[in-house]
Order: sequence, then structure tokens, then C-alpha cells
Amino acid sequence: MINLLINVDHVGTLRNAREETFPDPVHAAARCEQAGADGIVFHLREDRRHITERDVRLLSETVQGKLDFELSTEAEVVSICCDVAPELATLVPERREEVTTEGGLDVTAHRQRLGTVTDRLYDAGVNQISFFVDPVPAHIEAAVELGANCVELHTGDFAEAPTEAARREEAERLATGAEAAHEAGLRVHAGHGLNYRNFPLFRDVVPHVAEVSIGFAVMARAILVGMDQAVRDMQATVRNAQP
Ligand code: PXP
Repeated sequence: MINLLINVDHVGTLRNAREETFPDPVHAAARCEQAGADGIVFHLREDRRHITERDVRLLSETVQGKLDFELSTEAEVVSICCDVAPELATLVPERREEVTTEGGLDVTAHRQRLGTVTDRLYDAGVNQISFFVDPVPAHIEAAVELGANCVELHTGDFAEAPTEAARREEAERLATGAEAAHEAGLRVHAGHGLNYRNFPLFRDVVPHVAEVSIGFAVMARAILVGMDQAVRDMQATVRNAQP
């Protein structure tokens, strides 16, 4: 069975866009868990554009299932992650200018920094350390050498493939990567751009996946499927306010 972890970053993006206190990613996380999510993911970015330190503290206190803390190797964020010691820490590349994470880590190029951070996270009590990588054997091998015990396969190219044939080809690449990671003894995670339409192909073709991390598709659907109730609630409020 594949575990479903829900990323609540987008709730923070909406809140912060209006410099408001709601919607609250901490409340959203609780609702996700009540609805059956196996855990919650967030990415504390260097610029704090969605998740804040307050969110991290409250999520770490309130999430009942698995907590996946996504982070770059930036020193302050690494220290916060060490303090929280989540069950899973996922190391991701991060650029200030990007709208969202743009691809997997170049593990071979950043070997030394990733190795140091991995050691620190284990020392702090993090059980699972995952590297977010493209399904490329060199990166998977380097992840093993640096001590990661999981990899999260980047599914963005699969999700963005322009044709059905191209998507199937990307799924086969992911399958090869998943096989290599599994053979190397790594737990296999996956995420980025997975949605209601592309997931069936992913699930049918890619083996050994223990966990997926999905955010945008779920939050986008929540806005639409929740619209009816939200308007009804406001209409009731407006009608009751009338003499
Ligand atoms: N995994 C990682 C490492 C990510 O950076 C993201 C995007 O925040 C996701 C999974 C989830 O991607 P999406 O929001 O497209 O489902």
C-alpha cells in the first residue's frame, strides 16, 4: 500500500498573500489527517514564503501521522529541522527565484554539504532522511553513499510530459529509478505534480513506492469541491443578517 502524505504549503501561500491569519496550514493539516491522510508535508523555505516557524512548531506538536519536513541545506533551516526532529526530513534543492521546486538535487555536485547535513539530522534524531532526486542512477548511488535511507523520486517530468507516449516513457524512467533505489536498500518516495489524472499510470508502472507527497492537486480540488458549502454558509450568514 502506498502512503499518502499531503503537502500544506499552498494553504500558507494563500494566507500570506493577504497577510492574514487564515486559512491556517495547521488547521488544514488536521483536516487532511481526519480525511485519511497518512501524514503531512511542509517545506520551510529560506524566504518563509508559505510555511513560517510558527507553523513548523504547531505542526510538529499537532500532526498525529508522519511529518515530512522538506528543507534545503541552508544553515538556519537545518537547525530548525534538528530542533523539531521530524520522522522524515527530505532534502530538496531551493532557489529563491523559483515558483516551486524545479527538479531533483544534484547530489554529486553537492556531496559534501549534503553529507554534513545528513549526519547532523541523524544525530538530532531524525529517523528517515530522503534526497529528492531525478530518477538518475548516479544520484541514487550518491544518496546511498551519503547515508540517506530514502529517496523521493521527482515526478515533475512525468507530470509535465506533453503526450501520453511521453508520459509513459517518463513513467518507465521512474520505474527504473525506483527499481535501482529499492535494490540499493532505499525506501522509495515520490512526488511533484502528481494529480487525479496522472496517478493511475504512475501507480501501474512504478514499483516499490512506499509513499507519495501531493499538494497542489489536492488543494486546487479542495477549493472547488468546497465552494458549494462555503457559498451556502455565507448566504446563510447574509440572509440571517437581514431584518
Ligand atoms: N515533493 C517535493 C520535494 C516538492 O517540493 C513538492 C512541491 O512542494 C511536492 C512533492 C508536491 O508537489 P505538488 O504540490 O505538485 O503535489
